[in-house]
Amino acid sequence: MATNRTFTMLKPDAVEKGHIGAILEKISASGFKIVAMKLTQMTTKDAQTFYAIHNERPFFADLVEYMTRGPIVAAVLEKDNAVEDFRTLIGATNPADAADGTIRKLFAVSISENAVHGSDSDENAVIESAFHFSGREMF
Ligand code: TYD
Repeated sequence: MATNRTFTMLKPDAVEKGHIGAILEKISASGFKIVAMKLTQMTTKDAQTFYAIHNERPFFADLVEYMTRGPIVAAVLEKDNAVEDFRTLIGATNPADAADGTIRKLFAVSISENAVHGSDSDENAVIESAFHFSGREMF
């Protein structure tokens, strides 16, 4: 059964370009409630752990470098069918393939600097939320 929470990060490119407000506005307007949020910066070890599933991929080193180069906004979002609906809202991994109006279409630079993360399953949403937030930081 689908849970009603997902985890997101506004990635360094989005923060650098001053898109935090516009992206959060779009997230709120799409019916998601923010139940945890912070500005933080991942260490190399954090990024290697968070993206461990990709550690054999050719883009892994660049991904870790990119995700650690500046602050991110980490947040937990609540809405019915949160994981699937948020994936729809952010659009395809490669902004060139993302549907019009999606966050990646509007704000992403490229497949490797794609502005925003969204959990791909309920199980990963729980793991990724716990990676960034303690129980007392989630409301
Ligand atoms: P992935 O989990 O496949 O995509 P998504 O973020 O849409 O769930 O990949 C994780 C991140 O890895 C992706 O957001 C950007 C980066 N990435 C690349 O840099 N190059 C690639 O070819 C792929 C597939 C991903």
